[in-house]
Amino acid sequence: MVDTLGRIPEDFIQSLLARVDIVEVIGAHVSLRKAGANYVACCPFHTEKTPSFSVNQHKQFYHCFGCGVSGDAIQFLIENNGVTFVEAVEILAAQVGMQIPSDNKPAQSAEHNLIYNILSEATKYFEQQLRQHKLANQVVQYLKDRGLTGVVAKSFKLGFAPPGWDNLLTNIASNTEQKEAGVKAGLFVNREANKYYDRFRNRVMFPIRNRRGKVIGFGGRIIGQAEGEPKYLNSPETVLFSKSQELYGYYEAKQTIQKTGIVIVVEGYMDVVSLAQAGITNAVATLGTACTEQHVQSLFKTATEIIFCFDGDVAGKKAAWRALELCLPILDDLHRIKFIILSNAEDPDSFVRKFGAEAFREQINAAASLPDFLFNTLAKQADLEHIDGRVQLANQVKQQLIKLPDGIFKDMMFARLAQLIDVDPAMLRNKITQPQFIAKPKVTKPARALALVSPALRAVAMLLSFRELIIDMPDLTGLDLVDITGSSLLYAVAEILRAAPQASEEDIKEQLPVDLGKSFVPAELRGITHIVPKDGVKQEFLGIIQLLRRREKELAMDGLLLKAKQNVLSTSEKQLLHQMLQEKGKLSE
Ligand code: GTP
Ligand code: MN
Repeated sequence: MVDTLGRIPEDFIQSLLARVDIVEVIGAHVSLRKAGANYVACCPFHTEKTPSFSVNQHKQFYHCFGCGVSGDAIQFLIENNGVTFVEAVEILAAQVGMQIPSDNKPAQSAEHNLIYNILSEATKYFEQQLRQHKLANQVVQYLKDRGLTGVVAKSFKLGFAPPGWDNLLTNIASNTEQKEAGVKAGLFVNREANKYYDRFRNRVMFPIRNRRGKVIGFGGRIIGQAEGEPKYLNSPETVLFSKSQELYGYYEAKQTIQKTGIVIVVEGYMDVVSLAQAGITNAVATLGTACTEQHVQSLFKTATEIIFCFDGDVAGKKAAWRALELCLPILDDLHRIKFIILSNAEDPDSFVRKFGAEAFREQINAAASLPDFLFNTLAKQADLEHIDGRVQLANQVKQQLIKLPDGIFKDMMFARLAQLIDVDPAMLRNKITQPQFIAKPKVTKPARALALVSPALRAVAMLLSFRELIIDMPDLTGLDLVDITGSSLLYAVAEILRAAPQASEEDIKEQLPVDLGKSFVPAELRGITHIVPKDGVKQEFLGIIQLLRRREKELAMDGLLLKAKQNVLSTSEKQLLHQMLQEKGKLSE
């Protein structure tokens, strides 16, 4: 039990709020509906007929435009369940399996402060040694040889732990209290009573900072080739430092991540620093451990897009697949995951130094979307010419896809699988994929199969069967140019129906330009409306339009970014791009 008088440390509250999802917390009490970027409901705190209560997942915040209440997940429980602050924290901590620090609170935050302080002293000492120690020249030369300038070294607070067993110890810890704090910080090792020594010796030091910029641990690299000793030595887990939650370089990258909405996740400390040196300042690294769900969840709070960049070796590919599996259950329509697998034996550091920042940016631009990466990886392993191979693939992909949360994205993924192995999407989702269910001869051409399942074509199908959709159909101008199969057909059919809502299928066909007329096959279109549950038609339809709009924006932004790179933006285009980037940034504030 928590002593209600003791203070729960602020950093515990922060990491608790970083772990819980306010949408789940509120969703357990109120029936939430997705509306654009937010979730809405009728406000539980005042009586109303139309929903003005809104929950923002990015900001982990709720607000009622009707009665003005607002707050975070803790506040919600206090208001809604009538519990105290401490009880609310207890409820949430139990939900995510976190242990509330249970000893005396004021004493504990005092202890945390001691540990923060000693880590900060150590950081200063290591930085100073990189300038002053008699071996400093060699270490600086090593960093220079690796392409780093003093400016970048300084911004990452790189340092040098000199050779010897007690340099740090004698310089920053004069009494037992400080030595003990240093042990708890992971800086000193204490094997025998009253005997302490430095953990980090003769290493380049990479301080690891938490989200608020405080140093919570270190990675230390051997200078030059590792012989016998481990190349990197990392701080152990401490009360302040958890490798499954922290990411190297996040604090340094935060601004760029907020501005662009994009974060690149790499494997090594040097990758982060080297990319920053090359001007790519939105990279973070895991801490020598695999990426965890907590990492992804916490990045999703500031970034809309995560690009995983892995080395091209077997270990890298395995790690990429693990990351993919990890992301599937938590993907939603607001976030994107992409993958870069570097070729040969390159890592981001060696790549950017060999080929330059532009080449790395090209890799970023060409990063495989999660769907592409998933399907390509599995398709490479399967024999698609034979039914057995297709069944095997279907089972493998399906195993992954069932982990996705329900939504348009999941539907599209199933549709894509159906297209790849050439079966009816509805059947694929309902039936266990055994050979007798799939053994449909491969007669339809792939192009036709693809056309059958594109979201734009599903929207066309819906328009044909549910003419009432025309009544408050949003403006579709420009959507015909989006690069999703069937978008031009959707645009054309929608405009015809807007003018004549009851036009027959023959009328529509007649009015369509010849090339579009060919892809307008009412019998097939009617055949796919059954995928959509009747009461969800309008939502699904509007969802598809939104999806196309998002893609349109992406394309426009890509175009502008390309022009920006070539330095051919007009003033108004510059403004537009600026505005778009800001909007994207706002989304992820
Ligand atoms: P260099 O370019 O050789 O400096 O290293 P890197 O940043 O490319 O790291 P590498 O790809 O070799 O390893 C990725 C990450 O794994 C490192 O940043 C460390 O966090 C971790 N790591 C690497 N080697 C060791 C090791 O010997 N021991 C431990 N504990 N972690 C390591
Ligand atoms: Mn490397």
